[in-house]
Amino acid sequence: MFVNKSSLLLLSLGSLTGLSDAFWRMSCSIIQTGRIDPIVSPGEVASHVHKISGASNIGPNSTYESLQSSSCTSCEINKDLSAYWTPLLYYEHANGSFEEVPNGGMAVYYLGRGDNKTNIQPFPPGFRMLSGDAAARSFNDTPVSSVEGAEPYGNRVSFNCLTDSPNPQSPQMNMTDCDNGLRAQIQFQSCWDGVNKYLPDNSHVAYMSIIDNGACPPGYPVQLMHLFYEVLYSVSDIALDGGKFVFAQGDPTGYGFHGDFLNGWDVDTLQAGIDQCAIANEAGVVHECPVFAGIDDQNFSTDCPARLPEIDEPVHGVIDKLPGCITVTPGPEDATLADFVCPASAPEPTLLDVDSDSGQVIGSTVNGWTYMGCANEPTGVRALGDATYTSNNMTNEACQSFCAGKGSPMAGTEYATQCYCGSALASGSSLNQTCSNMLCSGSEMEYCGGPDRLSVYQKA
Ligand SMILES: *[C@@H]1O[C@H](CO)[C@@H](O)[C@H](O)[C@H]1NC(C)=O
Ligand SMILES: *[C@@H]1O[C@H](CO)[C@@H](O)[C@H](O)[C@H]1NC(C)=O
Ligand SMILES: *[C@@H]1O[C@H](CO)[C@@H](O)[C@H](O)[C@H]1NC(C)=O
Ligand SMILES: *[C@@H]1O[C@H](CO)[C@@H](O)[C@H](O)[C@H]1NC(C)=O
Ligand SMILES: *[C@@H]1O[C@H](CO)[C@@H](O)[C@H](O)[C@H]1NC(C)=O
Ligand SMILES: *[C@@H]1O[C@H](CO)[C@@H](O)[C@H](O)[C@H]1NC(C)=O
Ligand SMILES: *[C@@H]1O[C@H](CO)[C@@H](O)[C@H](O)[C@H]1NC(C)=O
Repeated sequence: MFVNKSSLLLLSLGSLTGLSDAFWRMSCSIIQTGRIDPIVSPGEVASHVHKISGASNIGPNSTYESLQSSSCTSCEINKDLSAYWTPLLYYEHANGSFEEVPNGGMAVYYLGRGDNKTNIQPFPPGFRMLSGDAAARSFNDTPVSSVEGAEPYGNRVSFNCLTDSPNPQSPQMNMTDCDNGLRAQIQFQSCWDGVNKYLPDNSHVAYMSIIDNGACPPGYPVQLMHLFYEVLYSVSDIALDGGKFVFAQGDPTGYGFHGDFLNGWDVDTLQAGIDQCAIANEAGVVHECPVFAGIDDQNFSTDCPARLPEIDEPVHGVIDKLPGCITVTPGPEDATLADFVCPASAPEPTLLDVDSDSGQVIGSTVNGWTYMGCANEPTGVRALGDATYTSNNMTNEACQSFCAGKGSPMAGTEYATQCYCGSALASGSSLNQTCSNMLCSGSEMEYCGGPDRLSVYQKA
């Protein structure tokens, strides 16, 4: 699933109260879609499907440290190995099937906001947070803090139905007939207690009084960058049939939209961005911030394409139920744990041991061929030199059957288009390499090596 460049452009204007002050805005494509949530469900299959942008090494067990070993990020700034995620939107057809609503990546805004914005501190390693409430099905009118004039929690989420003429924003998903897409938006907490990198109830962080600006409450002395996500859904691509749009956590109202942030920033880079561009960046354009010059990759979506799923279950296209054990609850009461959690007897999908850089599962065997890892081409000789062909319709399966026909027990794909066969890797080639994740020329669902790198398979 790749980001549609033209749809990303639609994300450009933002929807905050006044965008004249300092910020930078990163575009991101999707790195993975699935029931992954290393903040709420570390090491486990999460209750519902998220679409994730950012560091390639995202998985159920991700931490700041593991994200640092990512080979790339699907967001623009490649010294930001953070992960950003929100729930996926489906359309529940009249016949009960669920269809994934086409969507690209997201825009992530870093804004220099708050009464204490001259003291903004970088997110520390290990910092993570969640904004929003997956269980909410009605507007939460409780003020976000005791600070005078504090806005209600419900205002952290908003929806903007994009048509040729502008529509008012709403805290609920009540306009879905949007020719140019439905934009789901969420603001994050920008006040930190300065001590805890994470607390499961998110009480380590607090909202500014007017959410996208204002004062931090007592007990939260540290001003952070203000994070804001925009996620665009192509609702007009769905053939409506009297069904309804539903977020992956069973939410047809939109009040339960939420976002997660797992910090992966290089601290010095973020600090420099804050010092030089968060308090004084005119346009919000990433590459106009000198700090990001040279580490701002405009080709992020092709340089760091979506990873193969790490959880073995269908989430794309038309599926017969929401992944997990999700009950669609229209509210106004909050959803309960029972609406999210699988009974102990329910079969769980398999957590795959994915090689996060190659996107393939080391040791997994398909059609009698086992994935061995990513190998380099040594100098002077081919890693696998017995037979080769090149095709614009390359897949690992096609290469394997070619090699089998040549009597070779090993098959390696390289540079999206090339197939090499052999009986052992030549000296100087080893399987511990990082591949640069080129999709096969014949399949968007698998990788075929990279420049001078082979995805190597061995006949079992
Ligand atoms: C992830 O964590 C779980 C639980 O801690 C562990 O059982 C599993 O082996 C880990 N998976 C990987 C790929 O590290
Ligand atoms: C339900 O309707 C959708 C949209 O027409 C279709 O794609 C899907 O196959 C149908 N599901 C079943 C089970 O018939
Ligand atoms: C959508 O909800 C908002 C706030 O809840 C309300 O002001 C607006 O009138 C609603 N719009 C429609 C089209 O129902
Ligand atoms: C502003 O930030 C500084 C430095 O982190 C902190 O010491 C101070 O308490 C903050 N002021 C307010 C009003 O929160
Ligand atoms: C981005 O991709 C375009 C088109 O493929 C290419 O011309 C350009 O050099 C690339 N830029 C970078 C920084 O790699
Ligand atoms: C690509 O290869 C697949 C099988 O590997 C085949 O079914 C398909 O027809 C091929 N497409 C083209 C355009 O050659
Ligand atoms: C892979 O292993 C070889 C031989 O043990 C070693 O020389 C090389 O540095 C390793 N490469 C990586 C990327 O770990």
